[in-house]
Amino acid sequence: MTLESFSPITNEWYYPSEEVLRNAYIADYDAVYREADADIEAFWAKQAQNLDWFRTWEQVLDSSNPPFYQWFVGGKTNIAHNALDRHIKTARKNKLALIWEGEPGDKQTYSYYRLWREVNRFANVLKSMGVKKGDRVTIYMGRIPELLIAMVACAKIGAVHSVIYGGFSEQALADRIEDAQSRVLVTCDGAWLRGNIVKLKDVVDEAVRKTPVIESIIVVKRTGQPVNMEQGRDYWYHDLVALPIASPICETAVMDAEDPLFILYTSGTTGKPKGILHTHGGYQVYTSTTLSWVFDVKDEDRYWCAADPGWITGHSYIVYAPLIIGATSFMYEGAPNHPYPNRWWRLIEEYGITILYTAPTAIRGLMRFGDAWPNRHDLSSLRLLGSVGEPINPEAWKWFYNVIGKGRCPIMDTWWQTETGGFMITPLPSVGLKPGSATRPFPGIKVDVVDEAGDPVPPGTDGNLVIQRPWPAMLRTIYGDPDRFVKQYWSAYAKQGWYLTGDTARKDEDGYIWIIGRNDDVIKVSGYRLGTAEIESGLVSHPAVAEAAAIGIPDEVRGSVIYAYCILRAGHQPSEELRDALKEHVRHEIGPIAVPAKIEFVDVLPKTRSGKIMRRVLRARAMGQPEGDLSTLEG
Ligand code: WTA
Repeated sequence: MTLESFSPITNEWYYPSEEVLRNAYIADYDAVYREADADIEAFWAKQAQNLDWFRTWEQVLDSSNPPFYQWFVGGKTNIAHNALDRHIKTARKNKLALIWEGEPGDKQTYSYYRLWREVNRFANVLKSMGVKKGDRVTIYMGRIPELLIAMVACAKIGAVHSVIYGGFSEQALADRIEDAQSRVLVTCDGAWLRGNIVKLKDVVDEAVRKTPVIESIIVVKRTGQPVNMEQGRDYWYHDLVALPIASPICETAVMDAEDPLFILYTSGTTGKPKGILHTHGGYQVYTSTTLSWVFDVKDEDRYWCAADPGWITGHSYIVYAPLIIGATSFMYEGAPNHPYPNRWWRLIEEYGITILYTAPTAIRGLMRFGDAWPNRHDLSSLRLLGSVGEPINPEAWKWFYNVIGKGRCPIMDTWWQTETGGFMITPLPSVGLKPGSATRPFPGIKVDVVDEAGDPVPPGTDGNLVIQRPWPAMLRTIYGDPDRFVKQYWSAYAKQGWYLTGDTARKDEDGYIWIIGRNDDVIKVSGYRLGTAEIESGLVSHPAVAEAAAIGIPDEVRGSVIYAYCILRAGHQPSEELRDALKEHVRHEIGPIAVPAKIEFVDVLPKTRSGKIMRRVLRARAMGQPEGDLSTLEG
């Protein structure tokens, strides 16, 4: 498969079985869509009533100052209350909230009651360190329960968490700490990955050397290798939660619906990462409604979202939404193929997982090992599957459907973004599916595929995917940079007041949406979102590199891989050693996910007259295709 060669629109239908239909929360998508469309505020108010509010809102949506929309204005709440506190008063207290398995095979389970107590303890620890409402706390950890605990503990006391994915390295971490101005950082000594220890604390030590704002570091002991603990700055998590100050009772801060909940950095068109800001009120309503309806989660289910909590998928659909709706979630620490390629399938069998939500890159990666691995296991507990992060090619879709789901489990191909907070274009279990299409917008969501002027393009034609109406989990701003927020998302279709997604899409005759991919300078590598500018600035920070250009090239497993073109400074010669050194440099600066698959040394880069790198030309060159119209190339 290459993304270019895969002509997405097909008319192959897959319909849900009687059993799936019987189970589905929403049996008639069209009716619910129409209901929401007729009165969007009443629709969202109705969903919000499923949650607790300390004070009810006065206004559902305030559109008086677009694009700075506000939801549930005047409402008082706290997402941690809805995620935990309220369950403790019901039978859910005894239900499992989280089942966890570490890569080495160690296990943990948390009932709602236990999780609530652990969150309270850690919330009290944070308080004792002087963390207050509105303060930012950076979290940089592996996939362990304490990551979730730390996030919800922040929410509980009104602090704003900024989780940095553990695959990022020191410079990326330092930049994000600096931008958020966090004084407290929560990390772990290391994380298990493919039988090795990723030394996270070492990365933290380097990062905080570059950015002096961090005053305290809390370290969870996970892998146990010796780490540097600086007296007066670094504290062991287990020591702190054993102190009398870490009482298992902690009052939940009363938050305004529009108070910030978290910042999550994501890549955009410039090298500077964007801190996407989400708030308590709208986000809790939207994520919980979408999870219930799309994954149809019931008390009997064991739901596994295999993403990393460090990305939006984990924030919304591992941490907050599952807890709000009282689900039992499963979380696994390590690599899908460790020690053998059947690890995931064994976990599904052992824990009786009923819903598996993952990314096309993982599906393609596991597909490569052949059918024998999943076929050795009883996967009959599964009833629904999900996909997110990039377009899923029909071949992978069908493998997932037939080999993993045994033709019984509909695949929820959910299209959304860090910025949208939750699913936007997605099937519900009761709708007909076409492999490779994310189908239609969630009720209440209005999208279209339009040309530059904003006119809808005819079916089958590429256009810009836009969102035409505000929704409760929409990003509120880019942290510290409201101008960039307006410019980036709301200026292309300012007249119409539409949100620009940055994705190219097509619509078919049935109104189904087919996502083609990003049309800005964002590359999706294994579903991870990276900016070309970030990779380029990583490369030019090496003394041998004068200029660099990065592009994404289609890849069978990873969706895209990075190709980089470098112009060397005088006195440096191209060599294999230098190529390796540059890869190592990027690994160190940004992280392993940003390492180019290929680096080519060149003397010039194709540029427009205004000096913009023509990535289209580089892409064509890398793929051995005609380079097209070069008339705008520099002199
Ligand atoms: C892409 C991930 C096709 C898209 C939740 C979007 C998808 C970007 C899908 C956001 C999907 C996400 N089909 N493409 N089901 N889901 N994308 O912020 O290009 O990491 O703009 O959020 O991923 O990536 P992000």
